[in-house]
Amino acid sequence: SAPLRQHAAARGKFIGTALATGPLSNETQYRNIAATEFNQITAENAMKWDATEPNQGQFNFSGADTIVNFATQNNQQVHGHTLVWHNQTPGWVQGLGATAMRSAMQNHISQVVGRYANNAAVVSWDVVNEVFEENGNLRSSFWYNTLGQSYIADAFRYARAADPDARLCINDYNVEGINAKSTAMYNLVRSLREQNVPVDCVGFQSHLAIQYGFPSDLRQNLERFAALGVQVRITEVDVRMQMPRSSSKDTTQANYYRDVIQACLAVNACAGVTIWGFTDRHSWVPDTFSGEGAALIYDENYQQKPSYTAVHNALDGG
Ligand code: G3I
Repeated sequence: SAPLRQHAAARGKFIGTALATGPLSNETQYRNIAATEFNQITAENAMKWDATEPNQGQFNFSGADTIVNFATQNNQQVHGHTLVWHNQTPGWVQGLGATAMRSAMQNHISQVVGRYANNAAVVSWDVVNEVFEENGNLRSSFWYNTLGQSYIADAFRYARAADPDARLCINDYNVEGINAKSTAMYNLVRSLREQNVPVDCVGFQSHLAIQYGFPSDLRQNLERFAALGVQVRITEVDVRMQMPRSSSKDTTQANYYRDVIQACLAVNACAGVTIWGFTDRHSWVPDTFSGEGAALIYDENYQQKPSYTAVHNALDGG
């Protein structure tokens, strides 16, 4: 039957995946499924600061270009991930004083966004990522501790200057339901837009786990952000479980994927859904959560799981 991307396009949405450069060059099945099933690509790691500017002023776009070239060949859009984050950022950045850190951030954004500003595939960026603590306070990252909260508005302004046409997003996890963190995000986005800071889009990562339940107010939460005038999107969904798999866990997982797709379909301002990978062969989950895994829609042998069918059927109107 038709690939996911065909059904998504018919609904006016994207269906994305995150790609890693290793398997993209080594594994034919990985490449083929990525090309066939998805119409939007996010680099899982290749566009992050440690990859693109490991030493100050020395830029390396080899991995980023690999992703962008693959997407271009396959008529896919690229969502840039991510410009300003507290993880995967080299020590040289973290040790700078305020003035030097702000100008390093400006230079990084201008070089990375600028490289793809005239590239038709690259259409959007996660400008800042994970700026909140769970209680809704701004995270006390080295960015915040050195620059104060002005670094967030500055990052958006630098990105807009580097590519006036790119859609600029703020992205976070555990903001799918209505809670202290998502309400802090809501208040920040509203306040930034009142100050004409160019925030166009809010990304809801959606790293879910079947043992923690589904955020049943996801749609309602997306709608309150949409009412601020921003685009919303699901940026990194996966649904992990405690191993081993069972058919009942697979069914629960499939229902979560279905419900995420349906929430996005129900909200006009939701541009689409990106899955954080597609095969359990390559997933961040087992490395991070001991004893958990099987979070994606294909198994380790590239066989479609019930979750694939659920995504497919939801996009097809089911
Ligand atoms: O590049 C080295 C490689 O040289 C070395 O051989 C290997 C050994 O473990 O490590 C490699 O680096 C790893 C990198 O992924 C590339 O595979 C890092 O250790 C590992 O920490 C890194 O994990 C990534 C993680 O972000 C780090 O923050 C995951 O792949 C990636 O899926 C994950 O993605 C994040 C999003 O960017 C933001 N939202 C949460 C999401 C999940 O954590």
